[in-house]
Amino acid sequence: MLLEVQDLKKHFPARGGGTVRAVDGVSFAVDAGQTFALVGESGCGKTTIARQLLLLERPSAGAIRFDGQDVMSLDRKGVLAYRRQVQAVFQDPSSSLNPRLKVSMLLAEPLLAHGQGGDRAALRARLLELLEIVGLPPGALELYPHEFSGGQRQRIAVARALALRPRLLVLDEPTSALDVSIRAQIVNLLAEIQRSFGLAYVVIAHDLALVEHFSSAVGVMYLGNIAESGPSSAVFGSPRHPYTQALLGSAPRPDPDHQPAEGLILGDIGSALHPPPGCKFHPRCPRALPACAAETPPMRRLDPAAGAAMPAHQAACHLLQ
Ligand SMILES: Nc1ncnc2c1ncn2[C@@H]1O[C@H](COP(=O)(O)OP(=O)(O)OP(=O)(O)O)[C@@H](O)[C@H]1O
Ligand code: SF4
Ligand SMILES: [Mg+2]
Repeated sequence: MLLEVQDLKKHFPARGGGTVRAVDGVSFAVDAGQTFALVGESGCGKTTIARQLLLLERPSAGAIRFDGQDVMSLDRKGVLAYRRQVQAVFQDPSSSLNPRLKVSMLLAEPLLAHGQGGDRAALRARLLELLEIVGLPPGALELYPHEFSGGQRQRIAVARALALRPRLLVLDEPTSALDVSIRAQIVNLLAEIQRSFGLAYVVIAHDLALVEHFSSAVGVMYLGNIAESGPSSAVFGSPRHPYTQALLGSAPRPDPDHQPAEGLILGDIGSALHPPPGCKFHPRCPRALPACAAETPPMRRLDPAAGAAMPAHQAACHLLQ
């Protein structure tokens, strides 16, 4: 496995006292060349996970292993090497790209910061190569971010993320700030880049149709936990957790014959500051049992016969015990 996240937790002190359990014990793994998607409603902890992976914050508990190495115990040199290999693309390229820098500098910056610029000719050749990978013309080097469309700006952000030849990209809602009409172009570009370079992706997305086609495996998050995870085909094809079923039923689906499952109506998401006891989904669950308010359901594997090489299809729900 390239990346293994085990029982990751991130708790923040809340302003008025108490603890925000933003991420509360999350585990998943991603192999080279594969995409793991994290989906779930606003506030369920997706970006907080991304920030831990990018070492922007220190987890409260749990382990992140990259290439078999415990990331939390890396020395300074190890951290630098990790930062080279794990790069990010964020939602809004207008705020992630410094508007005062030309594209040439935006792309050169990570290379120079890591002493990988080489001589002038080598650097220029690499910048042109990066532009070609993301489908922008050489003339783009001399322009500023505001001179591009939103889709082109996201291409620049992708090129910058690729500059150091990373092995993993963390993509936090990479298309949701873009016009609907150009989202598919960026998704296709990311898929093509993955095929060409064998990159692994952790992608955070709201657009379930995108996730279904783009990811090999998916984790459905609810208030800091993964409610259900597994191969995308299994989770989307036969969702087993009531929350996943509700989420898929309420999402616009490409299949016009698809009807939302009966009785699954989503109310407000609860709070990570005062999460409900037992199964955190119980106040909204149409199938809740008395035990659900008292006992936290453990993650249970649903496909014991599937090969070990596949990510397991698993869910945390008392109905599945
Ligand atoms: N620095 C912080 N201090 C306190 N609480 C925080 C902090 N960062 C995030 N949170 C809280 O943690 C929870 C998870 O936030 P997070 O941004 O990870 O959600 P998300 O799934 O990315 O949501 P969205 O889909 O809206 O981007 C939220 O309740 C949020 O308010
Ligand atoms: S554990 Fe209970 S409340 Fe939670 S999803 Fe399953 S049935 Fe619903
Ligand atoms: Mg977020």
